[in-house]
Amino acid sequence: MAQKLLNGQPWYDTDGNPLHAHGGCMLKAAGTFYWYGENRTGNRYVSLYSSEDLQNWRFRGDVLTADSPTAAHRVRTECRLRNDDGTKKNIERPKVLYNPRTRQYVMWMHVENGKDYREAACGIAVSDTPDGTFTYLGSFAPFGCMSRDCTLFAESDGTAYFLSTARDNADLHIYRLADDYLNVDALVNRLWPGEYREAPAVMKRNGRYYLFTSFCTGWAPNQCRYAVADSMDGRWSTLTDIGDATTFRSQPAFLLQTADTCYYVGDRWNAEDYNGSRYVVLPLTFTADGVPQLTYTDFAFTP
Ligand code: GLA
Repeated sequence: MAQKLLNGQPWYDTDGNPLHAHGGCMLKAAGTFYWYGENRTGNRYVSLYSSEDLQNWRFRGDVLTADSPTAAHRVRTECRLRNDDGTKKNIERPKVLYNPRTRQYVMWMHVENGKDYREAACGIAVSDTPDGTFTYLGSFAPFGCMSRDCTLFAESDGTAYFLSTARDNADLHIYRLADDYLNVDALVNRLWPGEYREAPAVMKRNGRYYLFTSFCTGWAPNQCRYAVADSMDGRWSTLTDIGDATTFRSQPAFLLQTADTCYYVGDRWNAEDYNGSRYVVLPLTFTADGVPQLTYTDFAFTP
């Protein structure tokens, strides 16, 4: 094991380049972890890294850039990956699921114009392989709703959900996706109206669903809170604090389950210098009653 990743320190890929994968997600396939995340350098939007041991990350490509192929999938979809003046958009929180029905890797993301946060749209891209160039299918407002911070979750039977903040971040919506994962099918929950929960991250353990969120304070970290439910479209508990008052100076990106451990993966944003943002990965443990606990460790991805 060549490197031990230290929380809050700069991380590099196996070529020695800075690892750009913020606000992202991980997929596991055939013993390999695939880490997708934001990369704002050059013409890039989303980069992909892979690892077998969660410590050594190999750069696999820029899977979505401002010059990626586009294809109009829906009627009246905004399909451009640049603004009219040629400047880049802002793509945040890319999340990827494998759809066993269509055998496609489907990415959902938050799309803005790169200048402000008024576009408030979600975007979709697809690829036949995890590391292929994704084809961008455009952005839209689900059921006409604003859509900003987001995540995806799939059941073992393939039913998938898109969670995103709506109504200027005041409410958190849960949408069930269509079978092909290329549209929303139903708005199944509107959680904690007026509570301004951001950065949703969800996992399922022993038949219960856990949803972690931050409060809405821009790049500044705040107290993470979680809720529990028996189904995605069922009744969610009220919110309970977890971790310390700044979530160890981080904001949730996603929750990772390996064969024997769960991890909280967060971003330690740098508001002055986005590319100086770092990562915080902590073990997520559970009491016998299923209460999650987050404690600080110096090393990332260690149980
Ligand atoms: C919050 C969101 C991020 C990003 C910043 C911008 O931290 O979670 O994804 O949109 O705000 O201020």
